[in-house]
Amino acid sequence: MADGLLPARAPLIDAFGRQVSYLRLSVTDRCDLRCTYCMAEHMQFLPKKDLLTLDELEQVASAFIARGVRKIRITGGEPLVRKDILALFERLGKQLGHGLDELTLTTNGTLLSQYAGHLKRCGIERVNVSLDSLDPEAFQAITRRGDLHKVLDGVDAALEAGLKVKINTVALKHDNADSIPDMIEWAHSKGMEMTLIEVMPLGDTGEDRIDQYIPLPMIRDQLETRWTLSDLSDQRVNAGPSRYVRISETGGKLGFITPLTNNFCAGCNRVRVTCTGRIYMCLGQDDHVDLRAALRDSAMPEVALNEALDKALFRKPEKHDFAIKRRGDRPALPRHMSVTGG
Ligand code: 5AD
Ligand code: SF4
Repeated sequence: MADGLLPARAPLIDAFGRQVSYLRLSVTDRCDLRCTYCMAEHMQFLPKKDLLTLDELEQVASAFIARGVRKIRITGGEPLVRKDILALFERLGKQLGHGLDELTLTTNGTLLSQYAGHLKRCGIERVNVSLDSLDPEAFQAITRRGDLHKVLDGVDAALEAGLKVKINTVALKHDNADSIPDMIEWAHSKGMEMTLIEVMPLGDTGEDRIDQYIPLPMIRDQLETRWTLSDLSDQRVNAGPSRYVRISETGGKLGFITPLTNNFCAGCNRVRVTCTGRIYMCLGQDDHVDLRAALRDSAMPEVALNEALDKALFRKPEKHDFAIKRRGDRPALPRHMSVTGG
């Protein structure tokens, strides 16, 4: 079909008036770590044929860009364990400045020393590194297998390559709550931002969420006994779920993502696409639309893809309803974070 006959490429605005300008695109459900709040010890990963190919990932990303998405974050699992991943960054990097303002990724950092320079050359300016402890033993316990030094080398390599690094830390009652101030000091001393995240009840990991969950307001109270925190007001509409403070003593920025204690869904600007091409309109709900079917089973994939996006946006829910209340509760959702990306 000629391009002119395609339906108008309207911006992606949902039933609550929120415009989607941010896509989180997962490229694999695999990971070289097994964080206790994210995965089970023994995971059954998806067969490769179920994953979107490189071409399909590019098609999906381009469809979103054509409809007003300005920022794309590549996620996993661990995106850097996918073999052809650099080719995807190269291809999407070419769209920077042509509709796309920012291309970025969230990584566990284990392969960053190998990839940092390449990523920078593809036009990436910032990376989020997930890191929950600076103590080698605690890190090993949380990740069930990780080598902290590889991640620290990866962080240094990223900084040396000129990437801005933000550290994402999931607050865990027993494993890291007490050492969060030290982590903040470390991050800020290296000029990195840091964001704390409340653990969310996603997928069965073999651990009770009650033993992991600590509300971030408690951590903030602790931090305020030691430092001066001033709220940074962010007046942008659709600013996303993170709320930031500046810490006077360290001079650095600290974010709080509080899906459990404070819900910021009203400002939601994002959707997530899994590595199998399902679009999840909300991290905390199970409703999804299959973009892979639109791509693989239609005679006119571009039209089918855009129709699928319309359908998805129309169904984007108002908010999630996570809760961690009782010992033994089933996870709110059966799927793990590694399927949808963080
Ligand atoms: N709750 C909160 N954060 C999670 N992540 C993975 N699983 C969970 C969960 N159940 C985090 C990772 C990473 C980001 C992608 O999501 O630590 O920072
Ligand atoms: Fe891997 Fe990230 Fe999940 Fe840890 S949180 S197992 S690093 S995908």
